[in-house]
Formats: sequence, structure tokens, C-alpha cells
Amino acid sequence: MKQTLLTLTLIVSLTIKADEGMWLPQLLNAMNIKDMKKNGLKLTAEQIYSVNKSSLKDAIVQFAGGCTAEIVSNQGLILTNHHCGYSAIAYHSTVEKDYLTKGFWAMNKNEEVYTPNLNATIIQRIEDVTAKVLKGITATSTEAKKDSIIKSNIKILEKEAVTGTHYESFIKPFFYGNEYYLFVVETFKDVRMVGAPPSAIGKFGGETDNWMWPRHNADFSVFRIYANKDNKPAEYSADNVPYKPKNVIPISIKGYNQGDFTMVYGFPGRTQEYLSSYAVDMVMNESDPLKVALREKRLNIMNADMLQSDAVRIAYASKYASVANYYKKWKGEMNGLKNYDAVTKKQLFEQQFNEAMSSDPAKKEKYGNLFPQLQKVYAEYRILNKQVDYYSECLMAIDAFNYARFYTTLTNELRKKQKGANNTFETTLAEYKKMGFFKNFNKPTDIKICEAMLNEYIKGVPSSNRPFVLDSFILANNNDAKKMTDFLYSNTNFVDKEKAEAMLNDFEKYTNLYERDPVYYITSAIVKYYSTSVFPQFQYDEREINELQKLYIQGQKEMFKDKKFYPDANSTLRVAYGKVNNYKPKDGVEYKHYTTLDGIMEKYVPNDEEFDVPEKLRDLYAKKDYGPYADKNGKLPVAFTASNHTTGGNSGSPVFNAKGELIGTNFDRNWEGTMSDIMYNPNQCRNIVLDVRYTLFVIDKFAGAGYLLNEMKLVK
Ligand code: ARG
Ligand code: GLU
Repeated sequence: MKQTLLTLTLIVSLTIKADEGMWLPQLLNAMNIKDMKKNGLKLTAEQIYSVNKSSLKDAIVQFAGGCTAEIVSNQGLILTNHHCGYSAIAYHSTVEKDYLTKGFWAMNKNEEVYTPNLNATIIQRIEDVTAKVLKGITATSTEAKKDSIIKSNIKILEKEAVTGTHYESFIKPFFYGNEYYLFVVETFKDVRMVGAPPSAIGKFGGETDNWMWPRHNADFSVFRIYANKDNKPAEYSADNVPYKPKNVIPISIKGYNQGDFTMVYGFPGRTQEYLSSYAVDMVMNESDPLKVALREKRLNIMNADMLQSDAVRIAYASKYASVANYYKKWKGEMNGLKNYDAVTKKQLFEQQFNEAMSSDPAKKEKYGNLFPQLQKVYAEYRILNKQVDYYSECLMAIDAFNYARFYTTLTNELRKKQKGANNTFETTLAEYKKMGFFKNFNKPTDIKICEAMLNEYIKGVPSSNRPFVLDSFILANNNDAKKMTDFLYSNTNFVDKEKAEAMLNDFEKYTNLYERDPVYYITSAIVKYYSTSVFPQFQYDEREINELQKLYIQGQKEMFKDKKFYPDANSTLRVAYGKVNNYKPKDGVEYKHYTTLDGIMEKYVPNDEEFDVPEKLRDLYAKKDYGPYADKNGKLPVAFTASNHTTGGNSGSPVFNAKGELIGTNFDRNWEGTMSDIMYNPNQCRNIVLDVRYTLFVIDKFAGAGYLLNEMKLVK
């Protein structure tokens, strides 16, 4: 007994490991600054986040909705990742001016190009509004009543916060609704592309190297924020001028050593660090493996066809990249969780939680039922979750079904319109017309995917969990996916560009025709089944889980008073701190914490899709023409690993040294460490950072755009 208690205590004291956490910048003073200083930080909390004085936060940008960027000049110049600027670069590319392949460099401000719909957001202030949001809720309020009170409070507070200003605001829940914070932000709408390396440099290593260490790509691109003459956000205009920021990040080219303090400041998207053992078991043993297996089948089919034809390769390039990105992430995550014995660790923690409340009747009363309830919800939720996985990763992985799904939405809206209801039929129709479903479509590839996915569906989903129409179709064809696929594809209009677009162009006329289309028929049965028999219960359970998690967090805070808690990532501004750090991925292997240009030449495969190296870079390597960017051994540094806790959305985030100088741009995590979205393993979880010296080298020596460096504050 003593023994187990001892090990349990050990586990709990280890639950916030060094370097874990994505902290709230406005709470650093109260929570982290001592620890940060102990680890080497030379700044004050005020220099990192302040409302009244200029601080680092004024140079951190949420870029294009899902990424981060940093301001590096007093003329609004920003650095982000190549993969964050990718769609902007692609938007400006044509066959003649192929910026994806050749790179792009504005040689003066007149050559910088405006990109529609590209936004840059800067946080003005963050405020704890928990009490105000929950005002009016009483112990006897029903769940529905609580919801409506919270909603209306939020609406009023958001409006109040920005009345009479040009700012925007939003309120988000933290810790499952135990806390609420208000964000006042300034969003710039005129953002122009300044520079991007060729993909052979920015995306060197492609999917093979994605999520992997050692890494060798310069994943950066350069943009500039423009404002009106009053330095305020404005729609694009030729009269706009470069934005004058409140703060500019200095750039250090002095390098770093293993063990040096690092800090990442950015907008991490989503993590779930406080899940129960039931949830982690579901993710690691069921959901991740299923999604990985389904995506693997789909990717293999796409890949085979892409290798056969250039047209297919180009059509499927970005679809493939995005399917592959999370396929690989989930695979790393489930392996990492397994190797770390994550479920057992969660169970031990739950035992510890139970023991901590056992001597206190009040706590027992409040939390005693928590785990049994979670267990009960998850028993049901995991079945629904599997259904949802089959929906999005199997049935809707078939493009024909996915396209037809859009038409089911249109049909519903049309019916409403015909009944005279005020609805959005016309706008939805216009939106779908713009989407160009067939740009990235190849019928023979989709036929193969359809057959493979139907096969998986038949094997994996019991008859009782299938929409009746689909089940009958399967039975009528004796479970023969090939027969089903042949029938569907020879009788549908959804797989031929001309026919499908003709339907869209004259939608009301085709009503009967597409209703007799087998793909439409099956798809609408699927959509109907899911929206009546799966999604409502799924959402109901999610809500219940959220309530239980809310209670679980309260309990943890009450019972483990010494532990510091950070809220899960929710696309809001966070600080993660750690150190430059290498790791040992497996027995007998130890990685270095940095890579150099030498490694690019080692990986070089002439004319390869992923590992070709541009001639100019090979020349610079041959001459060792690295300028001031070489390290002390005369090598050109490329990337490094650190122990900062990051996730999707941290792409493009600045990585600072102890003095608040930029040493790199965050762009990925290591494969062994992608589990950190659910559990942070200090031995394995690393973020991957582009060394700013390689960024500057590419701008200056490779692209000949060194004039940009004149704007920057270089610390030599
Ligand atoms: N894994 C990185 C992230 O999650 C990079 C993705 C883009 N690069 C790629 N090769 N698909 O965003
Ligand atoms: N590449 C990711 C992004 O776009 C960052 C990698 C991660 O998930 O940590 O945000």
C-alpha cells in the first residue's frame, strides 16, 4: 500500500513536467515568471505582455486565421511559414509565373502583391470576464437557462468592449467553461506578399520529412501589413502605407546552445490535456487507428495514380498533402501514447484523484460520481464517435458522395424557398458554383477510392448501424463493393464535370433528375440518417462530457493545490517556454538538436519531387558562401529542436532566446511527440524550429533580396 501510494505521489508531482504548458500571457506575472527566470529568461513579464506599454505581444500576429507570424521591421514586415503562406503563393501563381516552383521576391514595395482575404490580427488586450459572463446564473438554473444567460451576457460584453473603436472582440471559454476571457483585437485587411523561397527550399523533404526530425526545409515566407494613413486597418487601397507597429522583434544571429532558454509566442489551435482514461483509450486504441487505416488506403490509391500522371499529380497535390498531414500526425500520436502507456498513466491519476477526495465527505459528494459518469458516457460516445469517423473518413472520403452531399444541402434550401421561407438558397448556390469541385478530381481515382472505402465500410460497420437505403444496397449486391461502385459510377451525373456543373447552373430544373441519381439517392440517405440518428446524440454526449470535464478540472484544482494548470489550446495567444533540446527517439539512437546545410546535400536527389536542390543553393554550398550566417564551426545552420509545448496553429510562431530576440520560426513537431496534444512526454515531445540564420541566408544570399534586412534589427 505504502509502495503504491509512493509511486502515485510521484506520478502526481510529475504531472506538470518541466516545459509542458501553453500559458496565458496576461497571467505570466502571477504564475510563471519565477520559473521562467529560473530557467534563464532575462525579460520581465511586462516586456512579454502589457496593455499599456509596448511589449512583445504587439509584434505577434495571428496570420490567415490558422497560423502565427511575427513583426520584424518598423514597416510592418512579417515572417511566417512557407506552408502558412502557401495558398497566397499559389493564388498568385500561374503556369508562366510559377511562384510555388520558382519562389517570389518583391525587389521593392511596388512589387509587393495584395492577397484578397488574407488577414493579420494583433491582440490589444485580454481580460478575465468570468464573473460577468456567469452573472445571473443561480444554483437552480437549468442547463438551457444557463446557456441562454451565458450567450446573452457574452453578446453584450463583446459589444461593450469595442463600442466607439475600430477594434473587434470575442469571448472564449477556458477550462471547459470554468473561466471566460475577452479578447480585443485589431485586424488588418491589406496584407501583401513580399517573398517566398521555391518549394524545393521551403518544402524540401515534402511529405517524407513532414512531422520528422532531422529536418531541412526553410519553411518561411515574408509578408507586409499595410494600414491607412492613420495607421489603422483598411481594405486594400493603393494609398495604404506600411503599418507602423508598436513593437519590433530584434533578430539574433548569434545562435544558441543545447539547454538554452527558448520561448514560443503564438496561437496554438487545439489540445485536450485533461481527458479521462476512457477518452484517451478511445483515441489511442480506436479512433486514431481507424482514421489512420482508412486514410492509408486512400493515400495509397491517390499516390499510385499521381505517380502515373502529371495531371493527376497536380490535381491531387494539395488534397494529398492535407490528407497526409493528419494521417501522419494521428499515427505518431497513437504510437506515442502507446509507448508512454498513456491510459495507465491516466488511470493512476484518477486513482490518486479518488484517494484525495476519499477523506472529505464534501468532495466525495461533489466528485464521487465523476468517473462512473464519464465511463458511462464514453461507453455510448465511443460507438457514436466511430460512426462519425466512418462518416468523415470513409463515406465522405469518396468525392462523388462528398459532392452529392452539397447538392442535398441545396435541395433542402430549395424546398424551403419553394415553400416561401426566407432562406439562403441563392447564396449557397453561388458559393458552390465558385468552389469548382472538379478542379481536383479524377474519376478513375475516385472509383478506386469508392470501392476501397465501401469495402472498409461493409467490413467495419454492422448492418444495424447503417442507413437503411445503403444497407439494402449492400445486401442486394452481396457485399460486393466493386459491383456497387460500377453501378454507381455508370449511373450517376456527379462524376462528370459537364453534367454536374450543368445541374448546378440550372439547379431548379434538374430536381427530378438528380433525385433519381443513385449517388444522390444514397448520399441523401446517409446525410439524413446521420443528421437524425447520429449527430444529435453525438452532440448531446459531447455536451455532457464538457460538463463532466468542467467538474473534473474544478476537482483537480481543488485537490492538487501545488500544481499549476494551463488551459487547453483554443486558438488564443499563448506562451510556451522550454529549452533547446535534442532527444533519443529509440534505443541506441540519439539525435542532435540542430541540422545544417550539409544535411540538405546528403538528402539531395536530383530531379526528385521532394529532395531536389536548386542549383544556386548547391553553388553557395560548394563555395561555402554563408556570409555572417554560418555557425562557429563554419556550417550553415538550418533547423533545431526545442522542448516547447506547441500544436497546430503555432506554425510561424516566433521562437525567442532569453533576451526576447528571435532565433527561429516554429514550423512543426517531431513524430514521436505529436502525442503532446493529449499528453506531454518530456523525453519525446519537441517542436521543430527554422533557424533564423537560414531564413536570412535564403533571403540575402539565395534570393538576392538582402535589402529587406536593412529594415530588420539584427543583433550580431
Ligand atoms: N506538419 C506541419 C503542420 O502540421 C506542416 C504541414 C505542411 N507541410 C506538408 N508537407 N504537408 O502544419
Ligand atoms: N505545422 C503545424 C501548423 O501548421 C505546426 C505543427 C504542430 O502541430 O505542432 O501549425
